[in-house]
Amino acid sequence: MSNRTTFTTKLGVIAATVGSAVGLGNIWRFPYETGQNGGAAFLLVYLICVFFIGVPVMIAEFSIGRSAKANANKAYKILSPGTHWNIIGIMGIFASIFILGFYSVIAGWTLEYVFQALTNGLAGKSAAEFQESFTGFSSDTFRPLIWIFLFLALNYFIVSRGIKDGIEKASNILTPLLFVILIVFCIRSIFLPGASEGLKFLFHPDFSKIDSNVILRAMGQAFFSLSLGMGTLTTYASYFSDNTNLSKTAVTVGILDTTVAVLAGVLIFPAAFSFGIDPSQGPELVFITLPNIFQHLPGSLFWSVLFFILLSVAALTSTISLCEVGVAYLHEEFGITRKKATRILIAFCIVSSTLCSLSFGVLKDFKLFGLTIFNFCDFTASNILLPLGGMLIAIYVGWVLNKKIVFNEVSNRQSLKVGFFKLLIFCIQYIAPIAIALIFLSGLGVFNV
Ligand code: PHE
Repeated sequence: MSNRTTFTTKLGVIAATVGSAVGLGNIWRFPYETGQNGGAAFLLVYLICVFFIGVPVMIAEFSIGRSAKANANKAYKILSPGTHWNIIGIMGIFASIFILGFYSVIAGWTLEYVFQALTNGLAGKSAAEFQESFTGFSSDTFRPLIWIFLFLALNYFIVSRGIKDGIEKASNILTPLLFVILIVFCIRSIFLPGASEGLKFLFHPDFSKIDSNVILRAMGQAFFSLSLGMGTLTTYASYFSDNTNLSKTAVTVGILDTTVAVLAGVLIFPAAFSFGIDPSQGPELVFITLPNIFQHLPGSLFWSVLFFILLSVAALTSTISLCEVGVAYLHEEFGITRKKATRILIAFCIVSSTLCSLSFGVLKDFKLFGLTIFNFCDFTASNILLPLGGMLIAIYVGWVLNKKIVFNEVSNRQSLKVGFFKLLIFCIQYIAPIAIALIFLSGLGVFNV
């Protein structure tokens, strides 16, 4: 198995992994979750979840992937033959198709908005007109599907080329591009009049807002944002070389991912406050409010195009990692070519994303557990499958997998000093599974935090 393809450079590892983590979760989801759940108080709980639960679980996932050097299902079969722990991998593959379903819809919308911005379709509209055109577009049967399929085709183009020539090459360009655009934007945003109100909302915590719902949402957001609990990082780590430093990579991803989420807040909240807009609007914040704000800025065309390109790029580097979970599985388990595996996976995604897209229009009254198909996929993946996957991964690595394997992975076969190893194992054995279980139970209303 040692001839498995690997990422060729350190930059490649970081660009691909950070690219997976940084996505619509940071720029589209984080700001409205923060807006709806108490601003800075949410941010604080979020930070705790990222560093005490997220990063340790990430190191656990990396250890599984790199030691087994196989896809998310086979990895468990190699490490624990004759057991059923590979169910974690199978759950991850399902989660990836759920996430790709709703995620591609938003990604498709961002492409439509790049197009609209470029053709000046966003100029000169009133707030009500923005609302109207967004609702009209998103509930349309065909137009969103065209953009979704285009977006999935881009994924096919990159993922079918493999790790080195596809995913690594694309990430090396797209991830740095994303950071540059984001920084340019933040600088613009903090110079808006009234920006300080927005910054205060983001950085000044009101502890009375923290309740079990806020904690559940912060943890769900942390898992989603770090791409945890569903095999993406297990799969990517199976392509890490033997000298990639796993814990350093995990901390770097945790820091950069959180930085981007906070920067997205710095971009959006001052802009929202400066135009007197309530930041607790839901998912539409980015598609209705922001284009409206941009059109009042000098050079509005430039800012709108740039913003939606930012979102598309962020989405793409995440979806290629989601696709890789299923592609690696199909390619390795069924012995089919990578191209064929990618085609099959994309076919599944076409089905799931079409259903999610139609749930804004013709299927809007079709409900699963009281949720539209889109919301059902989002809720099930982010608030159930990912935390559950994360909990099982922590239990597996903390209690089932031989500690020597974990130690060898984290220390690169004893060549790195790992004074934090005991603390890490403590977080993986106790903190992560207990915290996730408690938050689940309180979320289900079993008791109050
Ligand atoms: N982390 C990505 C984001 O924040 C989403 C994602 C989730 C990607 C799970 C891969 C796996 O947008």
